Amino acid sequence: MPEAGIDRVLIAEDAIKEIVTRLGKEITEHYKNSKSELVVVGLLRGSFVFMADLIRKIDYPMITDFLTVSSYGDSTVSSGNLKVVMDLDESIEGRDVLIVEDIVDTGNTFSKVLHILESRGPASLKVCTFLNKPARREVEVPIDFCGIDIPDEFVVGYGLDLAQKYRNLPYVGIFNPDTAAR
Ligand code: IMP
Ligand code: MG
Repeated sequence: MPEAGIDRVLIAEDAIKEIVTRLGKEITEHYKNSKSELVVVGLLRGSFVFMADLIRKIDYPMITDFLTVSSYGDSTVSSGNLKVVMDLDESIEGRDVLIVEDIVDTGNTFSKVLHILESRGPASLKVCTFLNKPARREVEVPIDFCGIDIPDEFVVGYGLDLAQKYRNLPYVGIFNPDTAAR
């Protein structure tokens, strides 16, 4: 029985494990002959649960870093409409960079993040997203490693939130506002 606020389970825990394992294999295979150091960059906050599982399925040396961006609110650095709230600690110049995102929806966030990171001269820049909502796309984003396409529904769980709630659910569920207040 799903929690209050969850209409139904869209991706169960076992299915998530399969997706993450497959992505880890694809990514390992992709970088196996690379000469540069791999930097895995998680976009906070949504990617942290997925990223924690994913990196343990990538059999390749890496360093990890995080980036927090926001379309609104206070910021320290701004680039276009997107604000870098917390920047990377690491330099990515000359390194292979893999960006990890929870979900690509309109594509606006990701395309701007790509632009910012591209300007720093990485050896390569690849994109991995756990979920993809193609029906909502406004800006084309190159997705190199895609977990699963989902329908145009608002989903929560496995790191995805609604107002910072539900990130701890071990599955991905479809949010239903009618049952949320229970
Ligand atoms: P985009 O710029 O429209 O691609 O927005 C991507 C961001 O919107 C993601 O990183 C999520 O934080 C958020 N988002 C989009 N769809 C959902 C959803 O169904 N559930 C939770 N967050 C979502
Ligand atoms: Mg997000």
